[in-house]
Amino acid sequence: MPSRVIVGCQWGDEGKGKIVDLLSCDADMIVRFQGGANAGHTVIKENRKFVLHLLPTGILRAEKQCVIAAGVVVDPSQLIDEIAFFENEGISVRGRLFISGKAHLVMPYHKYLDRYLEGLRRANSIGTTGRGIGPAYTDRAARSGIRLYDILNQDHLAELLASVLEVKKASIPNLEHLQEFDFHYNLDLLCTFREKIKGFIFDTAQLISEAYSAGKAILFEGAQGTLLDVDNGTYPYTTSSSTIAGGLFVGCGLAPFAPDEIIGVVKAYSTRVGEGPFPTELKGDEGETLRKRGAEFGATTGRPRRCGWLDLVALKYAVKLNGVNLLAITKLDVLQDYDPLKLCIGYKYRNQILEDFPDNTSFLKDCQPIYAEMPGWKCSIDGIREYNKLPEKARAYLNRIEQHLGASAKYISVGSAREQTIKIS
Ligand code: IMP
Repeated sequence: MPSRVIVGCQWGDEGKGKIVDLLSCDADMIVRFQGGANAGHTVIKENRKFVLHLLPTGILRAEKQCVIAAGVVVDPSQLIDEIAFFENEGISVRGRLFISGKAHLVMPYHKYLDRYLEGLRRANSIGTTGRGIGPAYTDRAARSGIRLYDILNQDHLAELLASVLEVKKASIPNLEHLQEFDFHYNLDLLCTFREKIKGFIFDTAQLISEAYSAGKAILFEGAQGTLLDVDNGTYPYTTSSSTIAGGLFVGCGLAPFAPDEIIGVVKAYSTRVGEGPFPTELKGDEGETLRKRGAEFGATTGRPRRCGWLDLVALKYAVKLNGVNLLAITKLDVLQDYDPLKLCIGYKYRNQILEDFPDNTSFLKDCQPIYAEMPGWKCSIDGIREYNKLPEKARAYLNRIEQHLGASAKYISVGSAREQTIKIS
């Protein structure tokens, strides 16, 4: 299987980490192409929980090549910590982790600015992860970024850093006294980083394209989710990168090709962290119950996730936008005590019925969900490993999703462990 893409079809936290981990056993190379340490990909391996923010999930499998491509924004401290963590675990990353020299760095001042700008937005805040993602991508677009290649030459780096900091201090008042904007503080950090990381910097576009031409199996690991895509998501309540399957070509620096499989990961209900519209959100006790049953707390920030029923309108949009041809449906077990189950099949917007996700996403805050109800199965399914052994009502729920989305489910996850997965052949 030469190329697979895994993308989230909702607002992130769909359980991509588990699916990537599962499928990485068939891959030669696992590639991250966007986002940064705002991601939190959780994998349970041998009863231990691993949360990866920056390293591709394939790193957990000792023999796999892993790539951080140019579209990722790299936080130096986070990267060093994650590499050290795996090395301490006896999982060596040397010789199999390749980081693009074109990837931009997330600097301490980006993290400061992320929090500072969120404070200024007040009622319009986005609820970012505070990981400096927006300011780092802003600098990339403004051509004020620092890339990994820049750290390799000390004189060039010092000159670039001085000019970047000068512009920042001239644009925003009262930054002089802050450590995050101090020239020597930033330079020292980058010099330490260079010594630890220089052996990992590569032309990753070339590496991926060679692997592709050689027929190697490549797994592209999306982070966040479709509705957080900067262009096509619920803007401005999005992240700052292209989270959709199309984003991989730009993020990796590859000519477009048709991947063999585009797997859309769909949680059996909806969640969202941070601000922004969420038509099927359950408020109060109902939301709290689902949050507890699904243990819905952010893997990166620990924030409680907002929870609600499955939104087929938004999912149909995500499936089309990504060209999803297979679904991985996760956390089905969490719904086992619900009866009836609700699925959103349309929105009421003022006096109109919308069956399609609105192009103007500012409508979403005034959209009321229209639900179809289905009976719940009311029994435990977390020990089931075969599709045919699932209760009929659980299969009916899955069928309804498949039919509405026009894509078949290939993986059903019924628990957090690797083996709690049903593969449909
Ligand atoms: P940022 O990416 O930190 O700028 O955050 C922008 C929005 O995307 C916020 O609502 C975050 O909660 C959300 N977000 C960013 N990364 C993730 C993720 O990996 N999972 C879920 N939500 C995310």
